[in-house]
Amino acid sequence: MPLTRFTVVVAFMLLIFLWGSIKTEGRHRHSHSHHRSTKNTISIPPTGAPLNSNSSNNNHSTSPSPSPVPIDSGSYSLFDVRAYGAVGNGVNDDTNAFKTAWDSACAEMNPSLILVPGGYTCLLKSTIFVGPCQNNIIFQVDGVIVAPDEPDSWPVNSRRNWLVFYRADGLTLRGGGLIDGKGEKWWDLPCKPHKAKNATAMHGPCDSPVALRFFSSRNVTVEGLKVQNSPQFHFRFDQCRYVTVSSLHISSPALSPNTDGIHVEATANVLIHNSVISNGDDCVSIGAGSMNVHIENVTCGPGHGISIGSLGKENSRACVANVTVKNAVIRHSDNGVRIKTWQGGSGSVSSVTFDSIHMDTVRNPIIIDQYYCLSKSCQNQTSNLFISDITYTNIKGTYDVRSPPVHFGCSDSVPCTNITVAEVELLPAMGQFISDPFCWNVYGTARTMTIPPLACLQEGLPRSVNDIDGNTCY
Ligand SMILES: *[C@@H]1O[C@H](CO)[C@@H](O)[C@H](O)[C@H]1NC(C)=O
Ligand SMILES: *[C@@H]1O[C@H](CO)[C@@H](O)[C@H](O)[C@H]1NC(C)=O
Ligand SMILES: *[C@@H]1O[C@H](CO)[C@@H](O)[C@H](O)[C@H]1NC(C)=O
Ligand SMILES: *[C@@H]1O[C@H](CO)[C@@H](O)[C@H](O)[C@H]1NC(C)=O
Ligand SMILES: *[C@@H]1O[C@H](CO)[C@@H](O)[C@H](O)[C@H]1NC(C)=O
Ligand SMILES: *[C@@H]1O[C@H](CO)[C@@H](O)[C@H](O)[C@H]1NC(C)=O
Ligand SMILES: *[C@@H]1O[C@H](CO)[C@@H](O)[C@H](O)[C@H]1NC(C)=O
Ligand SMILES: *[C@@H]1O[C@H](CO)[C@@H](O)[C@H](O)[C@H]1NC(C)=O
Repeated sequence: MPLTRFTVVVAFMLLIFLWGSIKTEGRHRHSHSHHRSTKNTISIPPTGAPLNSNSSNNNHSTSPSPSPVPIDSGSYSLFDVRAYGAVGNGVNDDTNAFKTAWDSACAEMNPSLILVPGGYTCLLKSTIFVGPCQNNIIFQVDGVIVAPDEPDSWPVNSRRNWLVFYRADGLTLRGGGLIDGKGEKWWDLPCKPHKAKNATAMHGPCDSPVALRFFSSRNVTVEGLKVQNSPQFHFRFDQCRYVTVSSLHISSPALSPNTDGIHVEATANVLIHNSVISNGDDCVSIGAGSMNVHIENVTCGPGHGISIGSLGKENSRACVANVTVKNAVIRHSDNGVRIKTWQGGSGSVSSVTFDSIHMDTVRNPIIIDQYYCLSKSCQNQTSNLFISDITYTNIKGTYDVRSPPVHFGCSDSVPCTNITVAEVELLPAMGQFISDPFCWNVYGTARTMTIPPLACLQEGLPRSVNDIDGNTCY
């Protein structure tokens, strides 16, 4: 079986790469507890990954109803997971059936459709679907896919991913079904004291799986699914090109830690539109190396709003350019639209437009925070990312008066420049109007009258641009 052997090799290389490259976001406190040696983590594969070449469950012909010749369904060759042994009762482990269906569809020359039929609930363990494939696969989920709900049932050293698509060029993941990460027991790990404000983080394993991860894939479409209760981020795209996400419904409780809706990292040409996201962390977050990201018609909240960052952690270099967020609604969130960078980073954030955003009871509707820090022990440093050419237009609605509605906290040494603000009207949801926006070392223009007034933007350009030149990305 040359294909299987090839898959094994590729998957092994991928594992090494994944473990070497995953950035520990550590938004919860005491994240150091899981900075353990990565050397041991490579040796044990995630359950369901095609590494265990000794195992007979990679013997495709042992499937209960072997269907190596796919059923032809119109213009697609159909790969129904039931034909590969999926039971779909929510109890049996259907991982190998899905993997076999994937491998078969992947080897097919015609356009192929993998079907998870409605009315079935398939339990899947941590799995990697590896491409590239011979055709553009449609992965149609009309039924339910669930994760095991016990962290203990996951292999100890592979707890960072649930469903991974690697080099899945041209993949469309779609359907009217549900993908349920069963994250509750992960959120309650003692290392994540999210429920009680003054609870202290305990030591112990903290890594939790991203529900759906796309890695090094081009031309990926995700459409129409409902995804809920991920142990960690719901979607994460790394090193992808041409990604379209639409009509998604992502939900997790407001108090679920680190459950970002969609995270985009080192990925370019992304369109996220017509989706609804409520969770316990960022609605959409955009990480280092991302560019040409367009977000439109997205409703967020409760959660932490739409974020660029965090960037520049541990003196790293990060570049983000050309991001547009348009026609969004952000409700009951800690932040609205945020750019967050750590002291000591370098690189830049440039050409960002936030246009037509409705805020409903949002704590920091407009915020640039170049002092981002998860503990109280971050030192100020002379380097930081250079933030420029940021436009805020037609941002209206209400804020939670615990924080000023506009907060531009730019670096002491690297000012933010060319910040343009127009048609901003933010009123308290309840209580006293806060008339003073927070501005620190920020240059730009208010093109119209704004509420609150933004007289604190400095005109023109700063005198010294030396540090700015050192941050040039492109
Ligand atoms: C490899 O196969 C042998 C024989 O079927 C079995 O006893 C052994 O447990 C297998 N090893 C692994 C790691 O699956
Ligand atoms: C695969 O399964 C078939 C049919 O059950 C069997 O004849 C064959 O020996 C198996 N191959 C391996 C490598 O286990
Ligand atoms: C992208 O995917 C779509 C749908 O699968 C396909 O029609 C199109 O040709 C692909 N484009 C590229 C550049 O691969
Ligand atoms: C927070 O800490 C205080 C003082 O240590 C304690 O009295 C209180 O019960 C704690 N609250 C919670 C929710 O743990
Ligand atoms: C910015 O990104 C959009 C897609 O979101 C793209 O159409 C446009 O060409 C990009 N602009 C530049 C200058 O690259
Ligand atoms: C956003 O919604 C409007 C109104 O429903 C629609 O006309 C527009 O095409 C949508 N934009 C995108 C990018 O889907
Ligand atoms: C860092 O700099 C900011 C702005 O000058 C200042 O408000 C803050 O107190 C400084 N923090 C530390 C830890 O020195
Ligand atoms: C300021 O930013 C806007 C919007 O990104 C851009 O069009 C304009 O060219 C910038 N102005 C300068 C002087 O760089």
